[in-house]
Amino acid sequence: MEKTKTLLLLLTSSIILFKLYLFPPTQSHEDLKAEPDELELTNLNNNHTWPLLYAKDVVSLNGKNFSEFMGKNRNVMVMFYANWCYWSKKLAPEFAAAAKMLKGEADLVMVDAYLEKDLAKEYNILAYPTLYLFVAGVRQFQFFGERTRDVISACVREKMTLGTYSITTTDEAERILTVESKLVLGFLHDLEGMESEELAAASKLHSDVNFYQTTSADVAEFFHIHPKSKRPALIFLHLEAGKATPFRHQFTRLAIANFVTHTKHPLVVTLTIHNAQFVFQDPRKQLWLFAPAYGSDKVILTFEEVAKALKGKLLHVYVEMNSEGVGRRVSQEFGVSGNAPRVIAYSARDAKKYVLNGELTLSSIKSFGEEFLDDKLLNQSDQISETILKLPLQSGASYQLRTHE
Ligand SMILES: *[C@@H]1O[C@H](CO)[C@@H](O)[C@H](O)[C@H]1NC(C)=O
Ligand SMILES: *[C@@H]1O[C@H](CO)[C@@H](O)[C@H](O)[C@H]1NC(C)=O
Ligand SMILES: *[C@@H]1O[C@H](CO)[C@@H](O)[C@H](O)[C@H]1NC(C)=O
Repeated sequence: MEKTKTLLLLLTSSIILFKLYLFPPTQSHEDLKAEPDELELTNLNNNHTWPLLYAKDVVSLNGKNFSEFMGKNRNVMVMFYANWCYWSKKLAPEFAAAAKMLKGEADLVMVDAYLEKDLAKEYNILAYPTLYLFVAGVRQFQFFGERTRDVISACVREKMTLGTYSITTTDEAERILTVESKLVLGFLHDLEGMESEELAAASKLHSDVNFYQTTSADVAEFFHIHPKSKRPALIFLHLEAGKATPFRHQFTRLAIANFVTHTKHPLVVTLTIHNAQFVFQDPRKQLWLFAPAYGSDKVILTFEEVAKALKGKLLHVYVEMNSEGVGRRVSQEFGVSGNAPRVIAYSARDAKKYVLNGELTLSSIKSFGEEFLDDKLLNQSDQISETILKLPLQSGASYQLRTHE
């Protein structure tokens, strides 16, 4: 009995050894959950400073600066590695070479996932190295291809031009809001299939607008689509202009593309905490309408007509004069008080402003704008204090939109 057991044991171990000899572990089960003391087993030299070699081409991030970097950069490929891991060390030079090839298009990042336990946990890193492509701060794709510079860079380029990205959680939605200035969101039955294909096809015609899709009612609601809306539903968010425009046509690529064409250039920008910086840094001469949020439809419409007539030669800005926060504060800066709508011409270059006196009609506003363009307005300038340019940065979730249409 004992003998058979021993024999059996010997037999199985030799089979295992034989198998290992013939079929050494491949890349796919490489350092899965490997611990650093396995280092002695792999024939790696004990020098762990090799990641420094790639610092010139590859950005190194840790738990403290990961989010900030992701919030500022749109296309980012992240290599989660461990510095004692053979396959990580082997991949690094190819990864760095891919970073060089993608300079200006995408950023390549290395994260020591063995040290950065929180990041590793958040992204559920089970093996080293693991590569993910993040778009607008949200993880979108895992890279499984051949680990060469050419395949890595080709894959990043392909995914970057894909057109439509998926959002599954409101956390991701919040992150996307901090990166995007305008976007289209489709609320679909499925992330693949007909609806998604129509959306992706429409996106190809608008490389300046990013398209997202979701099946989550929470995400849809976050982006101002009613969670009980009939799917497929679609909305265009112009975050700089503070506008949300729902799509109400048939869900075809052509209808979507046309809708985006008409929606992406708003004639009048509504000042918000999110776009204040863009507005103040816009080099164009500006025409500002101050009017209360309620009861101003007529004057806003007139103002939009003027914007249309002047064809983008001026930047047209609307301020909800008595709204909490930015509206009230900017009204004060411009010396506008009370409830009566006011039109003010403003030139960011010299911080001069001119007030339109008299009735606000299509023709009075239009000729005021034209005179301003031709530098014919008299000096009534008050310097606007510098504090106006130091508006707080956006905080992600708490943005306000004026639903349009
Ligand atoms: C460790 O490796 C780096 C780069 O491979 C090299 O520059 C450095 O001299 C090495 N240090 C030691 C102590 O071997
Ligand atoms: C992030 O922080 C690490 C550690 O301080 C630093 O080495 C790295 O350069 C930082 N990365 C960026 C992009 O600031
Ligand atoms: C307007 O002000 C500028 C300097 O601030 C001055 O050079 C110019 O002559 C003034 N124009 C009029 C019409 O007063």
